[in-house]
Parts: sequence; structure tokens; C-alpha cells
Amino acid sequence: MSQDKYILAIDQGTTSSRAIVFDHNGQIVSSGQLEHEQIFPRAGWVEHDPKEIIRNTNEAIGQALSRANINRHQLEGVGITNQRETTVVWDKNTGEPVYNAIVWQDTRTQKIADELGGDEGADKYKDRVGLPLATYFAGPKAKWILDNVDGAREAAENGDLLFGTMDSWVLWNLTGGVNGGVHITDVTNASRTMLMNIDTLDWNEEIAADMGIPMSMLPEIKSCSEIYGYGAKNTLLIDTPICGILGDQQAATFGQACFEKGQAKNTYGTGNFMLINTGTEPVASKNGLLTTVAYKIGEDDAVYALEGSVAVTGSLVQWIRDNLGLIKDAPEVEVLAKQVEDNGGCYIVPAFSGLFAPHWESDARGVIVGLTRYVNKNHIARAALESVAFQSREVLDAMNLDSGVELTELKVDGGMVANETLMQFQADLLGVPVIRPEVIETTALGAAYAAGIAVKFWSGEEDVKNNWHEDKRWVPEMDDETVARVYRLWNKAVDKSKGWVDEDV
Ligand code: G3P
Repeated sequence: MSQDKYILAIDQGTTSSRAIVFDHNGQIVSSGQLEHEQIFPRAGWVEHDPKEIIRNTNEAIGQALSRANINRHQLEGVGITNQRETTVVWDKNTGEPVYNAIVWQDTRTQKIADELGGDEGADKYKDRVGLPLATYFAGPKAKWILDNVDGAREAAENGDLLFGTMDSWVLWNLTGGVNGGVHITDVTNASRTMLMNIDTLDWNEEIAADMGIPMSMLPEIKSCSEIYGYGAKNTLLIDTPICGILGDQQAATFGQACFEKGQAKNTYGTGNFMLINTGTEPVASKNGLLTTVAYKIGEDDAVYALEGSVAVTGSLVQWIRDNLGLIKDAPEVEVLAKQVEDNGGCYIVPAFSGLFAPHWESDARGVIVGLTRYVNKNHIARAALESVAFQSREVLDAMNLDSGVELTELKVDGGMVANETLMQFQADLLGVPVIRPEVIETTALGAAYAAGIAVKFWSGEEDVKNNWHEDKRWVPEMDDETVARVYRLWNKAVDKSKGWVDEDV
């Protein structure tokens, strides 16, 4: 057994919980991973079982440590990164969630969002929190739980309930739960609740009151890199400092070393999330992007980002696998797509959760258009992959407009960047090189860096930059005319998806 020191990152994602051990060079030493159940009680609703997630997280930690053949004494620190916005409300006395976690993709809060907006509409809180009222964010999800679970509001008002995004839920459990668990979140996760002032990084009491959320439920907001607490006695991480938290997309931005204003990354996960560093001042978007905190390291100033969030990309491939049965596993989508030259005229707009950036159309639903007898499953697979790239093009256009500067290259990461067909099409559509780093697990890596910087395992951003290495780049090859034609057809397809929902769901 080596006596070297390591950092552990926990990545509590939408489909699975993972634990990854990193060495000082930022290389993966080992990992553990368990998928959790996706619960769909009704059309548009998506839930997770918070206790299953804690069990899986603990098991993933055990897997990662034993595969690396190391023990907790060799861990200098632990970072947490997570699916953002997904909301848990639990009883601090029993540790029991009062309801399943409501997942970021869930659309049940549409009515709440409309009512909160009232005459002022979706942008009512935007100048204060950087976000439009939409089903995506955490605050209205917490309101839904308090409004709909028997006795929840009363218990919340008595001070018995705690609210948290997944980072808070995982941290509270790892640090002892009912026996002294710390109730903390970081600025990046807090910036996804609609409850945090984007300028001051404090909770906004007025908005919390509008949503009927007692302040006593809210976790303390901390930076992304400092010691929050230590692993509890009954965990595998006993006495190990837990010292980094970043929402997964911000973690990827950090892991991709996007430290300069104007640097951007795009992560291909269940959804796609493009973030551009805008420096130490929040920038308001005029083109459907979100203003969010990118990271804040200890006492340093917070760094902000503009974000284009796309709800459904990788999860479309899962849907094709699980709901249509067209493929046996996710990589097979590329095998099918490569059988054909183009999409055969078929376009898929996967607006399963409405359309997020840059449209913010909650009433949109998915469409497949352009079908003829010519279209076969290979074209459908290709159209699915293309939809990922088209949605990222929409976001990049919005980013160029908002920043007034044309992006000259895009760093990419996440599971789908192994897909060469997709990456080439992405470069074609964007008209700029698409660059993949050696370590594509940049989400976990970013959380590891934040934790490692807090305990001086790494000295700071220089170390992160030095550890970042390019693996491959795709340069645009498609002629301008073809790009213009396919993008025009994509936009027609998007128009077809809008306004589909015409009654309360
Ligand atoms: O905002 C949602 C995002 O954080 C989810 O990311 O990687 O779990 O799909 P992922």
C-alpha cells in the first residue's frame, strides 16, 4: 500500500453517485459508482429517493477507497459536487426526508412560478438573483413540498425541517446527520435556489417570505473551498476534512481551468451546460442565459459566469435506450448514427422538461419532425445526437450576443465527449475548435481541486492550469451553406415544440 496522499471527490449526479480518488497530478486513481432509481410519478415529475442516494454515496466511497487500496488517513480532503437545484426537505430530529427529492428536471412548479411572477412575470426576481422564474430552480420546489406534504409547513415553522440541495444533504449526512451534521451550502449551489442575492451572496429574506420558506430552514452559505466539517464517526471518512463544494457545472468550469474572463466550457451530461467566466462582477443576460456564481475560493472575491442550461441531451440517449429500446447501451447510438451520412430530414427537439436556455418555454414538449418512409432508426439516432449539438449552438449564439465577443474555442467534457461523431458535428455547427482535455471527469476534478486548495494539497489555480492537458481537438469542416441550412431547419423544429401544453399539468 502506497503512503501517498490523495483527494476524494464525491459527484452526486442526476443518474448516479460517484466517488473518485485523485492524485497530486490531478489524475484519476480509482472510482466507485452506483446508479439510483429515476422516479416518474406523473408526466413531467421526476424524483429521487434521498436515502438511496446517501446509501449509494457511502458505497461508492467504499468502492473507490478499496480499489485504490488506500485508507482515509491518506485522504487530505474531500470535495463534494452535485446535480444542482434538486431539492430535499428533511426533519433535523429524525434525519428523514419529508418527501422524495424533487429533481431539477421536474416541471410541477410551473403554477407556483406563474403565481410568484404575477403581473411582473418571469423576470420579477432576475435583477436580485440572476435567474428567471422557471420550474428549474430549487426555491419553488421547496415551496411545493411545504404546500403539499401534510404537516410540513407547520414543522418548518417550528424549526424542525431543513432545506438543502444535494450538496447540503450529502454533507449533513457525512458529518453526522442527527448527531451534529453541519447544515451548509456553497455560493454556487445557493445561486441556483432563487433565494440568494447574486451581488451580496446572502439569502434574500423578502423572496424567501414570498415563497413561504422560513429562514431557519436554509443552510449557511459558505465559499467553495474551506473546511466545513469532518467525516463523522460512523462513516468511512471519519475525521477527514470535507473542504470543497461546487455545483457540478461550476466544478467542471473550475476543473477545466476557465479562470480568465471569456473562457468557457460545455459539459455533456444528462443535460448540457455551457458556462463562460465573466469575472468578479455579475453580468445580466439579455439573451436567455443565467447569471450564476462560478466559484469563490475561501476569502477571495467570487467569480461569476453566464450559463446556458440545456435540460435534455444525454438523457435523450437514455430515453432512446430505455423507452424506445432502439439501442442496448448509450455508445450504440453512435454506431447507428455513423451508418448514415445525415439525419435524412429528421429533427428531434427533446423538450421533455420544456425548453431551457435560451428559450425558457415551460410549455414546450418534445417533437420528432420531418418523418418520411425514408427515415430509419439510424437517422433517428443521428437526429438525437445532432439535437445535442444544435442546442449548444443556440446557447453559444446567446453567449456571443451577451458578451459582445465571439468565442474562439470551446473546452468540452462529460461522458458524451467520447462520441467522435457528435464532437465533429459540434465543431461544424459552432464554427470554432472543440477541445477535449485528457481528464474528461472535470466535474469531480474541479471539486477535488477546491477541496485540495483548502487544505494546501494544491497551491491554487496555477496547479490546476499546469495539470490541464489537451487530448484532442475537432476543427470545423462543414461548409457554411450546409450549416446555415441545417440550423434553419432545426429552428423550424424548435418552433413546432413550443406552446404544446395547453392545460395545467
Ligand atoms: O443543473 C442541473 C445539473 O447540475 C445536472 O447535471 O451532470 O447531473 O446532468 P448532471
